[in-house]
Amino acid sequence: MQAIDLRSDTVTHPTPEMRQAMAEAAVGDDVWGDDPSVQRLERLAAEMLGKEAALFVVSGTMGNTTCLLTHCGRGDEIIVGKVAHTFKYEVGASAALGSIHSYPIPVQPDGTLDLHDIEHAIRDSSDVHYPVTKLVALENTQGSIGGIPISAEYTQALRDLCDRHGLKLHLDGARLFNAAAALEVDVKTLVAPVDSVSFCLSKGLCAPIGSIIAGSAEFIGRARRTRKMLGGGWRQAGIIAAAGIIALETMPKRLHEDHANAKALASALSQLEGLHIDMGQVQTNMIFIQLDQALPFTAYDLEAQLAEQNILMDVWDERFIRLVTHYWITPERVQTVIDAVRACFSQPVRS
Ligand SMILES: Cc1ncc(COP(=O)(O)O)c(C=O)c1O
Repeated sequence: MQAIDLRSDTVTHPTPEMRQAMAEAAVGDDVWGDDPSVQRLERLAAEMLGKEAALFVVSGTMGNTTCLLTHCGRGDEIIVGKVAHTFKYEVGASAALGSIHSYPIPVQPDGTLDLHDIEHAIRDSSDVHYPVTKLVALENTQGSIGGIPISAEYTQALRDLCDRHGLKLHLDGARLFNAAAALEVDVKTLVAPVDSVSFCLSKGLCAPIGSIIAGSAEFIGRARRTRKMLGGGWRQAGIIAAAGIIALETMPKRLHEDHANAKALASALSQLEGLHIDMGQVQTNMIFIQLDQALPFTAYDLEAQLAEQNILMDVWDERFIRLVTHYWITPERVQTVIDAVRACFSQPVRS
């Protein structure tokens, strides 16, 4: 039996329709700019996002890095959340590959960056001691704090701030379509205020590989060169783009199902004594669980017990777990997980 894999939405396998489309995809050489499937995917993505142009890249990390290296030069500074993926989990790519300095600031409990913190972090450009502040990077949904969707109103307020200070605004929208589904707004509205956006085809949208970056035609033209420098000029990429096209055409409209499954799972688990979930945070496909110190077992014990039943979860520390729902987590599988966790809580789990 395929595992009930709640570790992340990065684990999603392609659907049978995607596998078929990949087998039959028309391809060319994308570095020469003549892969018809890649061209179709990039046109579709740009249209859906309301941006002039889009570029197909290997991963979310490559998408963010390509954007940051295209916007910023050596020694420029970006303002970014301390727990943002771009800052915390991308191998320091912008520093290592682009000599870009990061100014990390706290991420608020609602997933936003405090506008006062940003104002405060912007450097005085007349002082030779400082790097030049060039860009603010936002994450939507915020993957380390509840998977919280960030509103278009907040993003516009941040845009206004950036405009007052001549800064670029980049959005890591790895789960942008989850945010749009949860907020019930068009993705175009969420990304209208930003100069560049990166989103993943490979997470909730279920494609096996790939991300998209989008922005002005001029920006994407320069980003294409940056992607090549990063080794991301991929030849017959149409085979993968074919799955991306199906991802974009079919998956955004069903993401509310993943969100409903997350709510159902969170709501049932939160009834268990010693297990805490902030239900207000469960707005998309993520559930963050805190275990009481008083419980006679740790999150690692629970993880081991559930793994024996082919249920996988992401343990962050002894008392903290993240679960993520996605296409392959059906309501029946949610019920299986609820029953299994309940059983662990009703019998002593080995410690
Ligand atoms: C918010 C966020 N941004 C970017 C990424 C990077 O995506 P990738 O793993 O495709 O490099 C991830 C991956 O989990 C993510 O959660």
